[in-house]
Amino acid sequence: LNASGAQPGAVEGGAQSTAALPEITVLYGSQTGNAEGVAELARDHAMAHGFNVRLVDMADMAKKDLKDPANLMVVVSTQGDGEPPDTAIGFYELISGRKAPKLDGHRFAVLGLGDSSYEQFCQMGKEFDARFAELGAERISDRVDCDVDYDEAAEAWIESVLARFAEATGAGAAQTTAATPAAATGGDSPWSKKNPFYAEVLDAVVLNDEGSSKETRHIELSLEDSGLAYEPGDALGVVPHNDPGYVDELLEKLRLHHDSELESGSRIRDALLAEFEVTTLTRPFMEKWAELSDDAELRRLLGEDARDELKEWIYGRHIIDVIEQFPIENLDAATFTRALRKLPPRLYSIASSYNADPDEVHLTVGVVRYESHGRSRNGVTTGYLADHVQPGDRVPVYIDRNKNFKLPHDPSAAIIMVGPGTGVAPFRAFMQERDELGADGDNWLFFGEQHFRSDFLYQAEWLNWREKGLLTRLDVAFSRDQAEKIYVQDRIREKGAEVWQWLENGAHCYVCGDGDRMAADVHRALLDVIGEQGGLDEEAAAGYLRDLQQAKRYQRDVY
Ligand code: 2AM
Repeated sequence: LNASGAQPGAVEGGAQSTAALPEITVLYGSQTGNAEGVAELARDHAMAHGFNVRLVDMADMAKKDLKDPANLMVVVSTQGDGEPPDTAIGFYELISGRKAPKLDGHRFAVLGLGDSSYEQFCQMGKEFDARFAELGAERISDRVDCDVDYDEAAEAWIESVLARFAEATGAGAAQTTAATPAAATGGDSPWSKKNPFYAEVLDAVVLNDEGSSKETRHIELSLEDSGLAYEPGDALGVVPHNDPGYVDELLEKLRLHHDSELESGSRIRDALLAEFEVTTLTRPFMEKWAELSDDAELRRLLGEDARDELKEWIYGRHIIDVIEQFPIENLDAATFTRALRKLPPRLYSIASSYNADPDEVHLTVGVVRYESHGRSRNGVTTGYLADHVQPGDRVPVYIDRNKNFKLPHDPSAAIIMVGPGTGVAPFRAFMQERDELGADGDNWLFFGEQHFRSDFLYQAEWLNWREKGLLTRLDVAFSRDQAEKIYVQDRIREKGAEVWQWLENGAHCYVCGDGDRMAADVHRALLDVIGEQGGLDEEAAAGYLRDLQQAKRYQRDVY
């Protein structure tokens, strides 16, 4: 089933006469649901204009489905280091490979979602866009790359692409003046990213004990009277404020007065606190700053030949470092803010179950603090939650659904959970849920942290669930309690025979946490276990795991 609940291939008709308008296929590849949300919006707009629309997940797209020429609106996000969403890997390989289908007669337009603080910004959008053209399809509209604050750009793309499709098929624009549909996000609750609910902080405690090098906070928020509901695997969006100390330093370096007014009428200090991203350094910001400063060294750093050097330079630096190192005289407030992007909300995997307690939502937040280039730094949202929010305060939040990280529908299906560090958060939600609903499937947790004594997050709860028999197996990897590092993937390898048995018996496997290295290392360990235990060669093992992924029995929530 695709997201709309219709079989792939089923056509959802628009309300008006559709005689002259072509059918549109909205094809999406989504990891956490953002691209899927935009695809649904595209479907709604297209239907409101009277197009017939198919909404198709790349996970459900086979070669034969591309045989007949189609009008494709492609929405795809990029993960980490320029990779496709998990559920889109199969389709990505299909169209990248030698056996890719010919796409002559197809028309297409691509919208990429990404984050410009990553070097491979919107890489998947770029590759799909180039590859569809290479395969013979006609690009009907230039690709658009969206940054984290994508709503407006995405909506503009949808409208302009629909107009192009109408023109290209001779239907003309006149026919396509239907009313814009209501935004379809947020379910039945009035609270959304744009209109967050101010949730009262009920409790905030540090989970680590003395001697730890970590600062992991457990935060409980009240959802009472909000109407907000969520499922295990969903995330909570938190709309942060920037650190006032940092903002004041920024204004001082820019020699801007706190009260300087922007075109919007807001004061610059308020805008820098609440509206704009003022820490994370992105290439677009550097480019704008180079333009404004006309600094030769900065221009050199942004040149094609200096890509690696720039990456190294950006590492551990923030916007304030650029301002300090490449100062601009007499910059006005409006010009400065035009170089910034909007402050995006941050998503945290929810650590509690709505069914167990509908009035609360819990988070497990790893506070980011470090020193670099002579300055101490805090993560924007983790610093906000740790240093500027106390019980009784209110925090703007919304629910961000994640359809790709869900407990099995079958309560007696077994699950394997791999969640080192704060990656354990959604598994606390999984266990609370299964406990509450009396689900009798087996549950196996692999947890890892640095030290048993100080970092065993939610230890009492896991042990209690194990005693009750809810948590069938618990394997822990405390990396720094012995001379050699031991990680969750080492435990997976040690228990390879049983892991294989569980998978063969239908277990679902979940991985949450660090996406830089852990997720890839765990993936490798699973491949090795599958190869060794199943007697499969490298390719067959990869196929086995890919099939699990397609069947949504191997799901990841990594960051
Ligand atoms: P370390 O800090 O001792 O390297 C949660 O952060 C746990 O994940 C820690 O025990 C950390 O170990 C461990 N960790 C670090 N890198 C990892 C990797 N590539 N794979 C799995 N676990 C890792």
